[in-house]
Amino acid sequence: MRLVNTRYVEEGSILARQVINPAGKVLLQAGVRVTASYLSRLQSMGYDVLFIQDDRLEDVEFHIAITARTREVAYKTIENVSKYISSPESCLQVDNIRLTIQEMINDLLYSSDVLGNLTEIQGFDDYTYHHSVNTTIIALILGIASGYSEQKLIELGMGVLMHDIGKIKIPEEILNKKTPLTEEEFREIKQHAIYGFDILRKNNDLSLLSSHVAFQHHEKFDGSGYPRGLKGSEIHEYGKLAAVADVYEALTSKRVYRRAVDPNEAYEYIISQSNSHFDPQILEIFQRHIAVYPSGTGIILSNGQRGNVLKQNSAFANRPFVRIFYQDEDALTTPIDYNLADHPSLMIIAVDNR
Ligand SMILES: [Fe+2]
Ligand SMILES: [Fe+2]
Repeated sequence: MRLVNTRYVEEGSILARQVINPAGKVLLQAGVRVTASYLSRLQSMGYDVLFIQDDRLEDVEFHIAITARTREVAYKTIENVSKYISSPESCLQVDNIRLTIQEMINDLLYSSDVLGNLTEIQGFDDYTYHHSVNTTIIALILGIASGYSEQKLIELGMGVLMHDIGKIKIPEEILNKKTPLTEEEFREIKQHAIYGFDILRKNNDLSLLSSHVAFQHHEKFDGSGYPRGLKGSEIHEYGKLAAVADVYEALTSKRVYRRAVDPNEAYEYIISQSNSHFDPQILEIFQRHIAVYPSGTGIILSNGQRGNVLKQNSAFANRPFVRIFYQDEDALTTPIDYNLADHPSLMIIAVDNR
């Protein structure tokens, strides 16, 4: 199978993976033949790419982070938490949230070491919920890679799932504003870290460290973040992990008003912020465990060859195994496989999901 941009998917192609919505509901099953009406519907729902069956790429290795069912549970959980906040008399169902995080951790422990496919392909939707779920996945991967105990993973996961909960107190007009924010509005948005901390810390059965994830996820390593301008070791490790996961998720997910940044561009941006926004030690873990190019992605190499990512290379997130089918515009008679880790002179220069 390979990733194909919906603009290039041919009618009659067969879906290699199910298509889910951000809430975890299956829209189309794997094996379904794609029709013109499916395609236009998916495009209007924000689906840019699909996994299509391709006999030449049957051996593409696909490791999904969490199952569609776990995603559905997580999505429901954060949806319910948000509803609770609007009716302050009931208290946070901490046990439910803990169970959700445990389920996510169990799924992640079964997935691969280097994750090339963080999520099934998604369209856009109520952004805050699916942002929360995806950010939790990324933060938990980083936590697992850091050797965290289950208890620490749960503390981290619960905090990250609710990191933006304070946005509930920010007026929608400001949150969804598509034109630049005024200084005043920006000041208000920044309050969500404090609001979130205040909401969460009132719950005695939630670890205070989880509440601090909401408080600290916008702090920056060099002290230029908010709300308190903490720097370096003043920021708790959970806050630092959450910061990386939060920004990477925001960049790579599609929003109604802008396309998603290509995964390699998002990756480069994150790495470029080492020592300023992010803790370099956490970026080292990020680089070893989050793949730059998801398996199945179409790529162009620096020598003009074009093909697809076959599988990930642990320790070299930007140098996967690839299979090449074209030299410039000419099809090769026999495809060539490369382990890019063994070919340091070859670089992936572009993503091309034709
Ligand atoms: Fe935030
Ligand atoms: Fe966030």
